[in-house]
Amino acid sequence: MKNIDTLHWTGDESGCLVMIDQTLLPLEFTEIECRTVEDVWEAIKMLRVRGAPAIGIAAAYGVCVGLQAAASTDEAAFFTRLDEVVDYLATSRPTAVNLFWALDRMRKKAQLLRGKAAPAAIAAALLAEARAVHEEDRQMCRAIGRLGATLLEDGQGVLTHCNAGGLATADYGTALAVFFAATEAGKTLHVYADETRPLLQGARLTAWELQQRGIDVTLICDSMAAQVMREGRVQAVVTGADRIAANGDAANKIGTYGVALLAAAHDIPFYVAAPTSTFDLATPNGDAIPIEQRNAAEITHGFGRQTAPSGVKVYNPAFDVTPARLIQAIICEKGIIRPVTPECVAEMLNLSDDAAGS
Ligand code: MRU
Repeated sequence: MKNIDTLHWTGDESGCLVMIDQTLLPLEFTEIECRTVEDVWEAIKMLRVRGAPAIGIAAAYGVCVGLQAAASTDEAAFFTRLDEVVDYLATSRPTAVNLFWALDRMRKKAQLLRGKAAPAAIAAALLAEARAVHEEDRQMCRAIGRLGATLLEDGQGVLTHCNAGGLATADYGTALAVFFAATEAGKTLHVYADETRPLLQGARLTAWELQQRGIDVTLICDSMAAQVMREGRVQAVVTGADRIAANGDAANKIGTYGVALLAAAHDIPFYVAAPTSTFDLATPNGDAIPIEQRNAAEITHGFGRQTAPSGVKVYNPAFDVTPARLIQAIICEKGIIRPVTPECVAEMLNLSDDAAGS
């Protein structure tokens, strides 16, 4: 299967972050270079890089970009700049917790070395840490795929919403990893991809990615999911997540909650696939998950054409929350959480990596 290199670091500590500009897909495949922390912030904000795990990886490399000039200063100046860069990147998008998870990990790594190494050496260690975040994400995708594939059967129709594939991660995704791994295991699936209004991640990215990897995919408008389910074409739904609260409530792209309700109404299992870096145990339930509000123009002037009357009021939340009771199981890299209860979530997250692998 063809791999998609969503983002990577090029060169040594003085190098830069390179990423596919996902806003141009599927018509143009263009890579952009982020040489300043402002470039990285803008790329996250504008969804040039998007999807919770990929946002986390971009932010980790963003810290490295932001600290390049500070590597030749003294310790106090270096750590002042670290705080500035981390706090700034944290303002790019509010919902995907992987962003904050990665920034926190980078800050902690630097703090551990404070007083023990020179700024240049800390900067080098931070690049190594960002590379580790990247590599771990690759392995996470494979583990989620392997585990999730056991939930699907040969010949099934499956539905997904938004893009939780290679474009959203370091390797081949979370929800889409489940489809890829099942296909690799010899199962034939038929994937229905919701187009995902208003920014069309399903149409522009998921349909493209599945085609690139040779998976049978049919694109539908979001509003068609109920009819497609009613016709018996879908036997399982798998989506990604941007933040999962301690009780298993899961935030994902706007429209996911509706799909979960439809799946419940049709007795179709609804699965969430997400790495442990997407869990936020400090958030007790979905009500406490911050929901990003985006620009009205995404709805009134989508892709350059005005499609609503000037001056109309618009509400544009980018995410919604699916309550745990609608989720049959959460597939993470350590195992499958089922039933989705606060106890089972805590038990899985506390599992050591060794125990999880066995
Ligand atoms: O606004 P986006 O495109 O960043 O939203 C992405 C999603 O909602 C994905 O489903 C989620 O991040 C999981 S990606 C593995």
